[in-house]
Amino acid sequence: MSTKSFLNHSLIGKATLLEKPSPIAEAVEEGLPIFGPETTTGVGKQHTPIVRTPQKVKAGQWFEVEVGVGYFQSHPNEPDHHIDAISLMVDGVEVASTKFQSGQGAPRATFVIKIDEPGVAYLRGFGNCTLHGLWVSEPVKVEVV
Ligand SMILES: [Fe+2]
Repeated sequence: MSTKSFLNHSLIGKATLLEKPSPIAEAVEEGLPIFGPETTTGVGKQHTPIVRTPQKVKAGQWFEVEVGVGYFQSHPNEPDHHIDAISLMVDGVEVASTKFQSGQGAPRATFVIKIDEPGVAYLRGFGNCTLHGLWVSEPVKVEVV
């Protein structure tokens, strides 16, 4: 499915999310370096996001997806070193994102999304560290029935 087709048929909520990509989506689009997924080193454990989603969902039905950084090992949350944004992409298309302030926002978010077309979708979470750049999760397969 093309990106345009996906956008036309599946996505959630607010058109503003789609019309104005997050800095993470822009970085991915521009081909900036993306690190991970990697959980064998301390820096990898601190930065690799995790995606928690049902393995099977019904087409067109809303479901919750949690994306977070710091599950494998806690990440600093200081003014000069913190996770400032998280995004969720479905088959390479950003469907939701959020920002965090240092010190107050834990780098975890629950998004509510739906996928309208039956088949298989791959979800990836992204997290941006102010010091260590953009990191990606393992792809998580979701069966849409
Ligand atoms: Fe970091």
